Amino acid sequence: MTAPGTAVEHLGAEYFQDPNAVHARLRAERPVSAVIMPGGMPAWLITGYAEARAALTDQRLRKSWPGRDMAVDSMYAALELHMLNSDPPDHERLRRLVNKAFTSRRVELLRPRITAITAELLDDMSTQRDVDLLASFAFPLPITVICELLGIPVADRDDFRKWSATIVSDTVSPAVFEADAGAMIRYFMALLAAKRHEPADDLLSALIATGDEGDRLSENELVSMAFLLLLAGHETTVNLIASGMLALLLNPGQLDRLRADPSQLGRAVEELLRYVSPVNHATFRFAAEPVEIGGTRIGAGEVVVVALSSADRDPGRYSDPERLDLGRDSSGHLAFGHGIHYCLGAPLARLEAEIAFSGLLSRFGSMRLAVPAESLRWRPSTLIHGLETLPVRLRP
Ligand code: HEM
Repeated sequence: MTAPGTAVEHLGAEYFQDPNAVHARLRAERPVSAVIMPGGMPAWLITGYAEARAALTDQRLRKSWPGRDMAVDSMYAALELHMLNSDPPDHERLRRLVNKAFTSRRVELLRPRITAITAELLDDMSTQRDVDLLASFAFPLPITVICELLGIPVADRDDFRKWSATIVSDTVSPAVFEADAGAMIRYFMALLAAKRHEPADDLLSALIATGDEGDRLSENELVSMAFLLLLAGHETTVNLIASGMLALLLNPGQLDRLRADPSQLGRAVEELLRYVSPVNHATFRFAAEPVEIGGTRIGAGEVVVVALSSADRDPGRYSDPERLDLGRDSSGHLAFGHGIHYCLGAPLARLEAEIAFSGLLSRFGSMRLAVPAESLRWRPSTLIHGLETLPVRLRP
């Protein structure tokens, strides 16, 4: 599938640790590159901003690929029949069912609860001098919010944290994947059965009711929806908070600037989204027919991976893109994607991030990194760019 005369880039362990370095090199050579994903799959990696934006709205690049038949009772049908894997008209039908719950207006109603959860977590941390900010704050905040919204017992969070880490990992064995994906499916099936029996005032109960009345969501679609919302709700915002805080700690001038003028927080969160890009690349797309992008011909059936983090560091779009600049206009960034699959949870993620950074900055005026930055490790996932841990010292 390679274009004549071009080398194929093998994405391996060094890519997990520093995707930006690999992207900068590939982008400088050409905006669309032939790569081998860590699992061995060949794909086209789009690294240029203009090409990425165009690809995300190109209707010839689809989520369902030739031969895929999700109606077939495969084990994964229960995880894969969701909106992010669907093309129109299914996509619209699935998204419409939950759209309202995630509008800015509805999400704003969650502000008091998000503020209260944040305050509780900050109180717990304030008794300590050294903490892992990821485990103590960046993870529990969004997971608690999404669990409460969906009606999933937050006490089970260690289980589904493990399962979903497996699902987004590029390095686990097929046996581990099957075991953890199976456990996740069985968990949701049992939870949905319990809610059907005893509905509560939560989003999953509302979705079951919609399905029962209009027969609009199959059992597999319900499980897939719950899975997607839970996964998207906690694999992403956690990294905006943790990697965003790391970026601020490594750029003290920018951090001071934000402390001096907290009214700039909204703008700062947009720049942090551009700069840390919690979702490294968009989910896979497949060419339904031959397509030309950035001068490269992509054959029918080939896989296209849009590197969002790379697009947002394209010097053709943002000046001095490798620099964190909280004052810049970062609008147009692709951290939430673009087109019909644009992030449903963007208003929620923005609100959580604003409350989180505001709390962290006002409570811990002298927070600093507790280990050398070079020793920090990133998770082995090409999809999610997130830290394993973030050790910080909260007080001198
Ligand atoms: C900083 C946090 C977040 C980031 C960076 C992020 C990023 C993204 C991106 C890049 C996409 C598009 C993927 C693609 O086109 O392949 C997406 C889609 C999606 N996100 Fe988020 N997300 C975040 C938080 C959330 C939250 C809190 C939720 C809440 C449930 C959520 C739910 C979704 C859903 C359901 C989709 C699929 C939309 C569709 O297919 O129409 N996300 N997100």
